[in-house]
Amino acid sequence: GKVAVMFGGASAEREVSLRSGQTVLDALLRQGVDAYKFDPAEANIVELLHNQTDRVIIMLHGRGGEDGVMQGALQQLGIPFTGTGVLGSALAMDKIRSKQIWQSLGLPTAKYRIAEKSGFEAGSCSAIMHELGNEVMVKPAREGSSIGMARVTSAKQLETAVQDAFNYDNQVLLEQYISGPELTVSVLQGRALPSIRMSTPHTFYDYSAKYQDNTTEYFCPSGLSDEEEAALADLSTRAFAAVAGYGWGRVDVMQDATGQFYLLEANTVPGMTEKSLVPKAASAAGITLEALAMAILATSMT
Ligand code: DAL
Ligand code: MG
Repeated sequence: GKVAVMFGGASAEREVSLRSGQTVLDALLRQGVDAYKFDPAEANIVELLHNQTDRVIIMLHGRGGEDGVMQGALQQLGIPFTGTGVLGSALAMDKIRSKQIWQSLGLPTAKYRIAEKSGFEAGSCSAIMHELGNEVMVKPAREGSSIGMARVTSAKQLETAVQDAFNYDNQVLLEQYISGPELTVSVLQGRALPSIRMSTPHTFYDYSAKYQDNTTEYFCPSGLSDEEEAALADLSTRAFAAVAGYGWGRVDVMQDATGQFYLLEANTVPGMTEKSLVPKAASAAGITLEALAMAILATSMT
């Protein structure tokens, strides 16, 4: 039978997914896998049943593809798929729920508040800024690739940023800004790959720093001591498991000036573009893009 590589989709991260999916499809074709592109924004997924599709590689980012909706639909159709299931996909898509779970388990994550579209009062901005250390990251609860995010340093900026983030989600995470460096750990079949440190001249590692310009520097090895690297690997695999992540993914972390780590979020379908982090970490571990694509495919077989 055939392997459908599902990419594109209708989320705000469609463009990223098109690049991730094409990268993975090309790698599988080079390995002789009978794989083809399936874009759920262009065809009904019921068609998967009509063309002898054995399994699906999910390379959709964002809501509708990475949040459990597609995972549930494929489960209902009886077609095995790669990576995390319904529960973990829904949890990891939501940065607020993820933090609540990590907090309840005693895993480190930065202080935060929640802004609700239905009951947000601009008058609360000064108190929130003060509580969160006067430098705050504003994030739609369920977005990816930094879409809708801002870094703010005043109550006025906070109000504007929250209103903008409400264009993307009804719940917005307001998180204490952690100085960095920013690190990321890829998780493949329960094991952490070498961490990567990102350094950007932008105010944070935003959409253009991720995909558009060439100003971001990536360090792998990341420069951590052996003990820190082991602690970060342990933290990341535990954080991924805590949100019911399975198979493959990536956990994003900030480190402050004292060396303390803070969990930002888990990604259950992390970017696989030519600029993306998981392929870089795999390469540092001696895993080629082709082998990585095959390992991701294998997560649908258990
Ligand atoms: N949300 C993007 C694709 C990432 O985590 O890499
Ligand atoms: Mg994400």
